[in-house]
Amino acid sequence: SVRPIASALFFCPLLVSCSGIQSALDPAGREAAHVATLFFTMLIGGAVIWLAVVGLLFYAARKRRVHSEKGAGQLILWGGAIFPTVVLAALLAYAVWLMPNIRPWFQGEAGSVRRIEVTGEQFWWRVRYLRQDGTVAFETANEVRIPVGERVIFSLKSPDVIHSFWIPVLGGKMDMIPGRDNQLTLMAEKSGTYRGVCAEFCGSSHALMAFTVLAMEPQDFENWMAARQVASGTEDMDGLALFLKQGCDGCHAISGTEARGTIGPDLTAFGERGSVAAGTLENVEEHIARFIRDPGAIKPEARMPHFSMLPDAEIDRIAAYLKGLR
Ligand code: CUA
Repeated sequence: SVRPIASALFFCPLLVSCSGIQSALDPAGREAAHVATLFFTMLIGGAVIWLAVVGLLFYAARKRRVHSEKGAGQLILWGGAIFPTVVLAALLAYAVWLMPNIRPWFQGEAGSVRRIEVTGEQFWWRVRYLRQDGTVAFETANEVRIPVGERVIFSLKSPDVIHSFWIPVLGGKMDMIPGRDNQLTLMAEKSGTYRGVCAEFCGSSHALMAFTVLAMEPQDFENWMAARQVASGTEDMDGLALFLKQGCDGCHAISGTEARGTIGPDLTAFGERGSVAAGTLENVEEHIARFIRDPGAIKPEARMPHFSMLPDAEIDRIAAYLKGLR
């Protein structure tokens, strides 16, 4: 008959969300693995209760007539009260027992832990790599790189409204609240490229506020860190001149140049990033130009003003310059 096929098709889309770069059920980190285990345990526990209660319902409906009042009372007591209470209590106990693993507080040598400060802005992510003494080593945006197999403490902040930092494959989410410094510990166990999102409604472009997570092999990560700490400069001096002439440096910084703006995202090595506008568009020159021309058309209420008054040739030239930054 058609029914089983139809119901199978109905559940297929649900399975799609069980894997991929942004699935809490396809964990790549220790904390996320515990979340996934808890989810499936809860799912099974819930299914058992559901089956028992629905089973009882069918049993009662088919029976039509109950032989004795005492028998019915026993059925309701055991099937409807005691059984669910025992299963739910067991699930609760398991969840409470698991909780320290899902949200671990780092215990150990405070000085040896890697710290990354992430600030939720409307609508992008400011990412700062901190030295052991807490000072900023360098800044980047909309991309978080971490070494595999190492606990990283994220220091989560916000200057404007509440955002929420969430990398589903690595662990649970944590709110970024103005005036507070929330700490979240995560550890990637598999190298790869993942996706993080903002999980708290923060304005018109909340849904367009994502970031890339690169979990790298420790040596690759160290090399990248070292490379980023020396001012890279630029070979495209004409492109830089135009960037400065149009005042882009009022908001943006590019290490190794005169551009030192701090209002908008740091654009150092922008060409290496996977996306434009915090995970909204693929990083190709055409998209960069589109964003410069009218950011609000791509990202409603983005703080960056539009530059549609500039000649197309100049916008394209700046886009080419940014794409060339390594
Ligand atoms: Cu930031 Cu939602």
